[in-house]
Amino acid sequence: MNIEITKSCGSERDISDIAKIELECFSHPWLADDFREVTQNPTSVFFIARDGDISAGFIGAYLLCGEAQILNVAVSEKYRRNGVGRALINHLISYCRENHADCATLEVRISNNAAIALYESFGFERVGVRPRYYDCPVEDAVLMTLSIN
Ligand SMILES: CC(C)(COP(=O)(O)OP(=O)(O)OC[C@H]1O[C@@H](n2cnc3c(N)ncnc32)[C@H](O)[C@@H]1OP(=O)(O)O)[C@@H](O)C(=O)NCCC(=O)NCCS
Repeated sequence: MNIEITKSCGSERDISDIAKIELECFSHPWLADDFREVTQNPTSVFFIARDGDISAGFIGAYLLCGEAQILNVAVSEKYRRNGVGRALINHLISYCRENHADCATLEVRISNNAAIALYESFGFERVGVRPRYYDCPVEDAVLMTLSIN
C-alpha cells in the first residue's frame, strides 16, 4: 500500500471516485451530482487518498470566515485502520493553517465510535448534540470542534 493524498481539482474522475466511496460508507449517501455542485463552490476543498489508481478515502470541507466545516470523511472498508483517515485529517488541518482557518467543526453520529475516536485523537471536543439530525436510521449528531493553532 502506497497512499498518496492530493487536493481534488473537481474532475469527473475525482467526483466519481468520491461518490463511489461515499456510497460504500454511508446509509444516506450524497450522489455524484451533490459532489459536482459542492466542488463548484469556491469555498469547498476535497482531498482524495489514492493507492496507485485505487481511491481509498476522501475528506471534504467548506472553508469560510476562518472556519473549516468538515462535510465528510470516509475510508473504503478494505483500507481502514491503516492511518488513511488520520492522514486525510492531517492534510485538511495543514490546509487550514495555510489558509488562515483557526477552527474546524463537524457533526458525527452519536454511535459512530470509530469516527469519534479518530476526531478525539486530534483534540476535537464535543460541544453539543443536534437531536435527530440524521435519518436512515434517525439518530442524534454530536457537534465537535477543534482549535487550530
Ligand atoms: C472513521 C473512519 C474515517 C476512520 O478511518 P481509518 O482510515 O480507518 O482511520 P485510521 O486508521 O486513520 O485511524 C486513526 C485512529 O482513529 C481511531 N479509530 C479508527 N477506527 C476505529 C475503530 N473502528 N474503533 C475505534 N477507534 C478507531 C483510532 O484512534 C485510530 O488510531 P489507531 O489505529 O492508532 O488506534 C472510517 O472508519 C470510515 O470511513 N468509516 C465510515 C464513514 C464514517 O463514519 N465517516 C465519518 C463520518 S462523520
